[in-house]
Amino acid sequence: MSAATAIAGAIEVRGVSKWFAGNDGQPLQVLDNIQLEVAAQSVVAILGASGCGKSTLLNIISGLVTPERGDIRINGVAARDFDDWRSISYMFQEDRLLPWRTAQRNVEFALEAGSMPRSERESRARESLKLVGLDSFADAFPYQLSGGMRSRVALARSLVQEPCILLMDEPFSRLDALTRAQMHEELLRIQALKQMTIVFVTHDVEEAVVLADHVVVLAPRPGRVREQVAIDLPRPRDTTEAATAQLTHQLKSLI
Ligand SMILES: Nc1ncnc2c1ncn2[C@@H]1O[C@H](COP(=O)(O)OP(=O)(O)OP(=O)(O)O)[C@@H](O)[C@H]1O
Ligand SMILES: [Mg+2]
Repeated sequence: MSAATAIAGAIEVRGVSKWFAGNDGQPLQVLDNIQLEVAAQSVVAILGASGCGKSTLLNIISGLVTPERGDIRINGVAARDFDDWRSISYMFQEDRLLPWRTAQRNVEFALEAGSMPRSERESRARESLKLVGLDSFADAFPYQLSGGMRSRVALARSLVQEPCILLMDEPFSRLDALTRAQMHEELLRIQALKQMTIVFVTHDVEEAVVLADHVVVLAPRPGRVREQVAIDLPRPRDTTEAATAQLTHQLKSLI
């Protein structure tokens, strides 16, 4: 077992509040006393309207942004003392691929900060591309790939370090409905295989209902937890089926 997989991946957000400087220079409260627990190896959706602080919350969980109040615990350890940052991966809303690198070299990029030998970086990146079904496009440059393929490369890059926690900020929002549905299937297949904790942000209620074990609904200005809903429906989930449709309706009424 690698060091990354040895970590269970539970996250606790404890009383997190965040302020930014507003346009008028006055402090603007963006998050208010956010309290949540993410069970290890579960899939959690953070759902809310635009501007309610979803990305800020994900940035705080990832350690990119520091909250004024509250803290994050990863696997029971204060995030500031959690030194294995390789085990947390962040997939941004934009794919952020380097245009001058092939798919393979883009995936390898995620491993370049460490001391891993080049041959191992190469073989891990190949494996990761294979996992997302893109091994035959390893030598393609981003401009030669479709939007869905680029998303797959970005996903492969997020997975190559074998994270125990994958944070995703609306990663599929730019894709057409059909490609998005394919990516949902892929993600669930990979999650079942790798047993990661996934926290993803979305404003797409159907996406939350199809993917999540647990949905956290944020209310805006300042962002706070309005409701938490556990989803205990078998997968794959069909949004036209009665139970999922009813849940979708319930969640839509909350945001
Ligand atoms: N670095 C920053 N400085 C000042 N204000 C910020 C900063 N980052 C975010 N904000 C403000 O915080 C609020 C929440 O932003 P955030 O990006 O977290 O929202 P979001 O829920 O992710 O929205 P969207 O769905 O549109 O991506 C917004 O009002 C935004 O203007
Ligand atoms: Mg956002």
